[in-house]
Amino acid sequence: MADIILGIESSCDDTSAAVIRDGWLLSNVIASQQVHKSFGGVVPELASRAHEMNIVPVVSEALSRAGVAAADLTAIAFTRGPGLLGSLLVGTSFAKTMALSLDIPLVMVNHLQGHILAGFVKQEGSENRHPQFPYLCLLVSGGNSQIVRVDSPLEFTILGQTIDDAVGEAFDKCSKMMGLGYPGGPIIDALAKKGDPKRFTFAKPHLEGLDYSFSGVKTSLLYFVRDEMAKDPQFMEKNKEDICASFQKCLIDILMDKLIKAAKQTGIKELTIGGGVSANSGLRERMLQEGAKRGWNVYLPEFKFTTDNAAMIAIAGYYHYLAGERCPLDVAPVSRIADF
Ligand code: KG4
Repeated sequence: MADIILGIESSCDDTSAAVIRDGWLLSNVIASQQVHKSFGGVVPELASRAHEMNIVPVVSEALSRAGVAAADLTAIAFTRGPGLLGSLLVGTSFAKTMALSLDIPLVMVNHLQGHILAGFVKQEGSENRHPQFPYLCLLVSGGNSQIVRVDSPLEFTILGQTIDDAVGEAFDKCSKMMGLGYPGGPIIDALAKKGDPKRFTFAKPHLEGLDYSFSGVKTSLLYFVRDEMAKDPQFMEKNKEDICASFQKCLIDILMDKLIKAAKQTGIKELTIGGGVSANSGLRERMLQEGAKRGWNVYLPEFKFTTDNAAMIAIAGYYHYLAGERCPLDVAPVSRIADF
């Protein structure tokens, strides 16, 4: 009999539900919250309220697009964390209630594992390429910057991670500081395409090992813009494409230096990226360039799987389900998870 999993994701500002049958995607519905735009960042209380409004229609739509009745579901997988507690609470409570009412198993998923395994969601009409184990995943989002070694769908080892800001945070905070808007990543990415990445340089961290730091480069940009604006108030407006291109190059250089180091140290040549920043065109291009140069097999996620979505939660939950993992109904969401 087929295993039909409903995935539910509500860790930040996207309410999402997806249905997969034996790993094949049947539906993936995402309701993105626009309410945060004018605040220049996600407002946790508004996010949880919007999840409450969205969760029922989003789950209904996912089931209907999949052509699956609730009674046909084998199990429900939900994001337990990390994320915003109020947001996670909505998805967790909904998943528990639905599993209890249908009398089917509940499976909890670490959101980050979802991003790392997103490439394993099988789709009709797609090549369905995915990395072979073991592989390295550069996990880059608004809350994380990590290099993770993946030995199986259930075995993850963090080789390096940020000691301060996440790279997505650096994109977002710098965009805000330059008055460009939120979320900063896509805005800087678009402006960077028109600019010269070699025009300006910013201070890079000197950190041993495979850990990252992004707070210094952010400060370096802040002081640079402040000093130049003192000389010419139009500096930012006149040079924003070049500033964005140079800043983005600097962030990508930092990410890639450590990833190359990790690949050398482990001897692993299967590489992928995940998380919101994996949508960045410069990073994707650089992954392919380095891959061609170093004999890596590079797997880039489809754009729809770079941001938060429930398909990745459903696939990660499917592997946990197959391994016999079941989650008790008194489980609570967690905003932080120190390790995998
Ligand atoms: O994984 P994600 O959707 O959510 C959380 O971190 O919870 O990642 C969001 C991050 C934001 O910082 C956003 O600016 C960044 O991903 N992002 C990008 C791009 N698209 C989204 N960063 C760089 N370039 C992009 N094209």
